[in-house]
Amino acid sequence: MKFIHRKTHQDRAHILPKRYLQWVVWLSLSLCIFFLSTFSTAPHFRRPHQHSFLRKHTSLASRALIAAGDSELPGGAALPDSLSLRIYIYDLPSSYNRDWLANPRCATHLFAAEVALHETLLGSPVRTLDPHAANFFFVPVYVSCNFSTANGFPALGHARSLLSSAVDFISSRHPFWGLRGGADHVFVASHDYGACFHAMEDVAVAEGIPEFLRRSIILQTFGVDRPHACQDVEHVLIPPYVPPELLQRPAPPSVATPPVRDIWVYFRGKMEVHPKNISGRIYGNGVRTEIWRRYGGDRRFFLKRKRHDGFRSEMARSVFCLCPRGWAPWSPRLVESVAVGCVPVVIADGIRLPFSNAVRWDDISLRVPEREVTRLEPILRHVAATNLSAIQRNLWDPANREALLFNRGMKPGDATWHVLKALSAKIHRR
Ligand SMILES: *[C@@H]1O[C@H](CO)[C@@H](O)[C@H](O)[C@H]1NC(C)=O
Ligand SMILES: *[C@@H]1O[C@H](CO)[C@@H](O)[C@H](O)[C@H]1NC(C)=O
Ligand SMILES: *[C@@H]1O[C@H](CO)[C@@H](O)[C@H](O)[C@H]1NC(C)=O
Repeated sequence: MKFIHRKTHQDRAHILPKRYLQWVVWLSLSLCIFFLSTFSTAPHFRRPHQHSFLRKHTSLASRALIAAGDSELPGGAALPDSLSLRIYIYDLPSSYNRDWLANPRCATHLFAAEVALHETLLGSPVRTLDPHAANFFFVPVYVSCNFSTANGFPALGHARSLLSSAVDFISSRHPFWGLRGGADHVFVASHDYGACFHAMEDVAVAEGIPEFLRRSIILQTFGVDRPHACQDVEHVLIPPYVPPELLQRPAPPSVATPPVRDIWVYFRGKMEVHPKNISGRIYGNGVRTEIWRRYGGDRRFFLKRKRHDGFRSEMARSVFCLCPRGWAPWSPRLVESVAVGCVPVVIADGIRLPFSNAVRWDDISLRVPEREVTRLEPILRHVAATNLSAIQRNLWDPANREALLFNRGMKPGDATWHVLKALSAKIHRR
């Protein structure tokens, strides 16, 4: 594979005239203040425990104004301590990233966190144009957008060579990769087995994390609660991408009773009668097949085997939404169900869930062990009779929902914000 290397405009950034920089500072600050004032009036964020959070960010705006007088670049000094980091974003040739956007799915499918994070960081206050001032270096490569013509899924066969070519590119033009062997460089690995860049666990484990990435920080969707070859790297567990604009977010309830939901249990996804068996590994560990076999005829279970439009509104009408594993333990349903206020029922042994210090997963979801999937109905019936409304009330807390969504244009408390918070905590690693 050949990539066209050319001079890029980061090389010109050093010689930007001072006036231009000041203009950038003022524009960013105006946008920031505009955003903060809009945000602080949004009803979702008026709940009491959010207040200290908002105060922090409002004082951040005034501190930013003061800093602007000193011609500070947008970023670092203007941020609260928890987000005091600066990120330099490499300006790679478009063959590594933007060219893939020719296919609109690239920016919207479940692996699109790599696109959303890049676009959001470009406009975020932590971005620095001065690589010497950076704590971290973001390498924006869209590895998940080469959709196979055969089945429509992203082909990952080219991922390693694309990434290694990107690393060659940056290390031949900048000293920063070499300085710390990539330890302060950040990559996104948003597909099944994360940093192993393969959809099948046995191949992923056999191939492992590419040697050249082993010292870097990987933002990845894959996570389990035991040692695993595909998470044996400094990493941040991130949620899968679900386009925020497609989700009807429920308003916080004004009454103590949950809204009426006419579907008891909802699931959409593959439920083959004979699940794929690839060298002894059964798709979804057979869990989905079992759900279909047991509950396919039960009218309280709304099981859809094919993709269909309007599935998100069906989720919003449902009490419980099943999130069984596929090839990998995680699934976009985790985010979709929380976002629409349907109680996620996680059936994926050993899964580690994203942002567990911000999202109170134990309070907003249920976990059913894979081997107990045959008892799904009595388990859910028991919860419905005991603590369902407590779980639903927790689920309405907008903080949980917002933490799982990558907005274009970072919002305090959203997924990008939590990624940055996790990175700030790693500033002194190496
Ligand atoms: C996309 O994936 C296919 C199949 O793995 C591969 O043959 C092709 O080279 C890839 N395209 C690019 C531009 O990397
Ligand atoms: C899956 O395939 C393996 C051989 O690759 C076989 O030994 C095993 O019995 C199969 N399992 C099922 C449930 O079909
Ligand atoms: C609800 O009850 C189930 C067991 O029936 C328990 O596993 C779960 O932790 C409880 N959740 C909450 C939020 O109380």
